[in-house]
Amino acid sequence: MKSIIISIPLLLAFLSSTLAAPLTNSRLPRVKVRARSLANSSLPVPEDPNDPSAKYVVILADDEKRKWADIFDEMGFATNEVKDHPQGFSAAEAHTENHSFQTFGLEDGSHIQTFGTTMRAFTMQMFQSEAESMRDLPNIAILEKDFPVATGLVEESSYEINEVPDEPVNMTMVPASELSKRQQQGQVVQQNGAPWNLERISETNAVALRGRGVTQLAFNYAADANGGTGVDVYMVDSGINVNHVEFGGRAKMIFTAFGQNFRDDHFHGTHTAGTVGSRRYGVAKNVNLLGIKVLDSRNQGSGAGILAGMEAALASHLRRSKEQNFVGSVMSMSIGGGGPSQAQLNVLQRMAQAGMHVSISAMNDNRDACSAFPGGFSRQVPIFNVGATDPSDGKASFSNFGPCVNIHAPGTNIVSTNANDNQSSRVLQGTSMACPAVSGVIALEMVKNPNLRRDPRAMLQHIQSMAIRTNIRGANSAQIMLNNGVRR
Ligand SMILES: *[C@@H]1O[C@H](CO)[C@@H](O)[C@H](O)[C@H]1NC(C)=O
Ligand SMILES: *[C@@H]1O[C@H](CO)[C@@H](O)[C@H](O)[C@H]1NC(C)=O
Ligand SMILES: *[C@@H]1O[C@H](CO)[C@@H](O)[C@H](O)[C@H]1NC(C)=O
Ligand SMILES: *[C@@H]1O[C@H](CO)[C@@H](O)[C@H](O)[C@H]1NC(C)=O
Repeated sequence: MKSIIISIPLLLAFLSSTLAAPLTNSRLPRVKVRARSLANSSLPVPEDPNDPSAKYVVILADDEKRKWADIFDEMGFATNEVKDHPQGFSAAEAHTENHSFQTFGLEDGSHIQTFGTTMRAFTMQMFQSEAESMRDLPNIAILEKDFPVATGLVEESSYEINEVPDEPVNMTMVPASELSKRQQQGQVVQQNGAPWNLERISETNAVALRGRGVTQLAFNYAADANGGTGVDVYMVDSGINVNHVEFGGRAKMIFTAFGQNFRDDHFHGTHTAGTVGSRRYGVAKNVNLLGIKVLDSRNQGSGAGILAGMEAALASHLRRSKEQNFVGSVMSMSIGGGGPSQAQLNVLQRMAQAGMHVSISAMNDNRDACSAFPGGFSRQVPIFNVGATDPSDGKASFSNFGPCVNIHAPGTNIVSTNANDNQSSRVLQGTSMACPAVSGVIALEMVKNPNLRRDPRAMLQHIQSMAIRTNIRGANSAQIMLNNGVRR
């Protein structure tokens, strides 16, 4: 006997056309998403259950308040909760009271991971037909395919161009009285033995190497003595080695997309955190560094993990903003990948509304930055999308460019903290290394300009106006170089 299978989208189209009158009951009749047994399905089963392209990211409508198990049950998914799944999302802070981060097992062995505190979302492996049916359910706000993500690190030849030995460095912070006359509030100090990128952002002109090797800690950095005190910088990355001595106890991990693994088992995240706020390599040496691990030991992740990490930063910002010692928040994200994700844009918009500053790397494909996301959203939301330069102020050969890049910062041969031990440094390059310099300057400016603390759009304009107008050779984009306002 032939069975008749009604296409669910067709059925929904039929239902919505017949139910054109406004619904008083606010909800359409429920339709099961998983309409038939997987084992008997003629649809191809996604080959690799860990392949993000077989997964979807789903955000619930705001008025959906029911328990997860009930929601999935109604969709036709029999679930049972799984504790401590290695790919589960976990928050170190106590904002799990509403069961935001739960993992559910399905009959076919795949998992649903729920996340979010300012919104309710989940990720799961589905057939495309199931995803199409689910997208039409009235309790679903956004549904999109998951995607793999990478970082703004230049991979080839650049992991360790030059492992800098852990040599003693003159870290005397001497008052630069001749500078402080010109300065805003607070005393300006000078760090000797800094990496080149820090000298560049406190100088008017391109660095003159004068025989100094570009990876030597032989440069000078002038900045405010109280650089970024109290500002929270969320590092959405591979994690932070919080024990590195250069963080001086100011770094902690608050979220992971990998079970209970809060370690930086790559090294990208410890390096970018070091450029924001480490003592020796950092732009703003007193910030709080809050680690959000969304990249694994291979420096890879998924759109779902990034979204969960961004949302965890937003949720933490909202909680922190009620505390007495709160100054302001920056999210620093040297990551890109996938197309324009509505879910990511949604979180970025809510961050802007909540007064959170965002800096993103423009990525490294030497192409139009408007097609690299999430940085390419700089046309829709007030975020920094950072291109990279070399010591002569040329565009770094790898850096993306074009109208979506709205500032430049140094990004080649950058020395910063290493994850493998608690003392050493590492040299990396990429727009990944330029983005955290901007995050650091945002933190500096937040301390000096209380009126900009919760105003990302005004901060963007302010930092663009402080930037040095210069010819960034080869960059068909903002001809401006990040500067901290201490122009020697
Ligand atoms: C699914 O397939 C199995 C094996 O071919 C069969 O025994 C079972 O009856 C089928 N179930 C349904 C619901 O068609
Ligand atoms: C948990 O849910 C309650 C009731 O909906 C809400 O008031 C509270 O803010 C939620 N907590 C968090 C951390 O989201
Ligand atoms: C450290 O820097 C200060 C200030 O420039 C300088 O006076 C001092 O000689 C330096 N010390 C060493 C060991 O280089
Ligand atoms: C780094 O510091 C932590 C905490 O003190 C310690 O457990 C760890 O062994 C140290 N790592 C190395 C490589 O020394």
